Amino acid sequence: MIDLDANATTPLSPQARAAITAAMAQELGNPSSLHARGQAARALLEQARKTVLTAVGGAGGKIVFTSGATEANALAWHGVLTAPWTPKPVRVVTSAIEHPSIGALVKALRLRGVEVVEVPVNSAGQLDVAAYAAALQQPTTLVSLMAVQNELGGIFPIAELAARAHAAGAIFHCDATQAPGRIALDLNALGVDLASLSAHKAGGPSGIGALWLRRGQRLQPLVAGHQEDGLRGGTENLLGAIGMAAAFALLPERLAAMPRLRQLRDQLWQGLQAAGPVARNGDVAPDLETGHVLNVAWAGVDGARLVRALDLEHVCVSSGAACASGTQEPSHVLLACGQTPMQARGGLRFSLGPQTTLAEIDHVVQLLPSLLARVRGPHLRQL
Ligand SMILES: Cc1ncc(COP(=O)(O)O)c(C=O)c1O
Repeated sequence: MIDLDANATTPLSPQARAAITAAMAQELGNPSSLHARGQAARALLEQARKTVLTAVGGAGGKIVFTSGATEANALAWHGVLTAPWTPKPVRVVTSAIEHPSIGALVKALRLRGVEVVEVPVNSAGQLDVAAYAAALQQPTTLVSLMAVQNELGGIFPIAELAARAHAAGAIFHCDATQAPGRIALDLNALGVDLASLSAHKAGGPSGIGALWLRRGQRLQPLVAGHQEDGLRGGTENLLGAIGMAAAFALLPERLAAMPRLRQLRDQLWQGLQAAGPVARNGDVAPDLETGHVLNVAWAGVDGARLVRALDLEHVCVSSGAACASGTQEPSHVLLACGQTPMQARGGLRFSLGPQTTLAEIDHVVQLLPSLLARVRGPHLRQL
């Protein structure tokens, strides 16, 4: 199996697997129990929290463990917008290319009559900064922007965007899910107030993530309960937290692999171009993207069809975001970049991980011409 779908999920790192396995052998207690077994579990949980906090440059702030970044995003938005101390009416500014978990929040809030501005992007997925500044002219409660775009690998200038939001009096939430191990992440230095994280994008298990809160940032919980300092009720996912911490302790190693991944990604791009005409989505200057993502399209080729053809050859890639890929919907990200629905169905995303090798890249480059010939054609009439 050749896994070129690291933005959908990453393999569990051996260290995370070992940490989880070792913890499972201990018959863990409930961290809320007063007895020794409970307190041993509490100690493990707090150690995991500290490791994650340090790994993302969040010292002084707070890590609230959640079921993943989707829940962290929801906790950030609802936690700010529904808090009794938040002045009403609320107003939100976000971008047109956020993850579908943010898109779902936008939809739900609009149904309730809340004003949500989605700032547009240019054809390469870069935020329209003038439109962002204009959106902040009106009183804004919350700004929510992602650090790294999951379909394109583009990086938003979060420090600058957060500073502008603060100047306008807004709270700044960053969906940083795709950032750890891909870019150097220092939440304190970025100046954000809230940040969403997920373990499974960086060698940890799925089903565990966190919301980071800057020191002093208050939130209304989504699920009431005494756990997680009253911010997220329910007995904690201790094994998940231990796995996340073990994975996040290795972020420097993942980051060190990024120049090699960029080289492999560039070789993939050169190989595909040599094989025939191909367009690249999200083509920006190297310092504005992570280097591990290649989003491409071939005229007359449906992305989902190509994903299935590659799957038969044991190669994993995505068309659009993984969460939306069962649906055949055109990518909302490529639509926001100004593409037609037909073009936006064509996008194919390769996302490389530390395990990716040159032999795998060469194999995919050799494979693609025959697959393209196979998937091109009659289905187009249906589009
Ligand atoms: C940018 C971004 N935000 C949020 C999520 C959701 O993360 P989780 O799977 O932990 O809910 C993803 C996952 O694809 C993502 O890429």
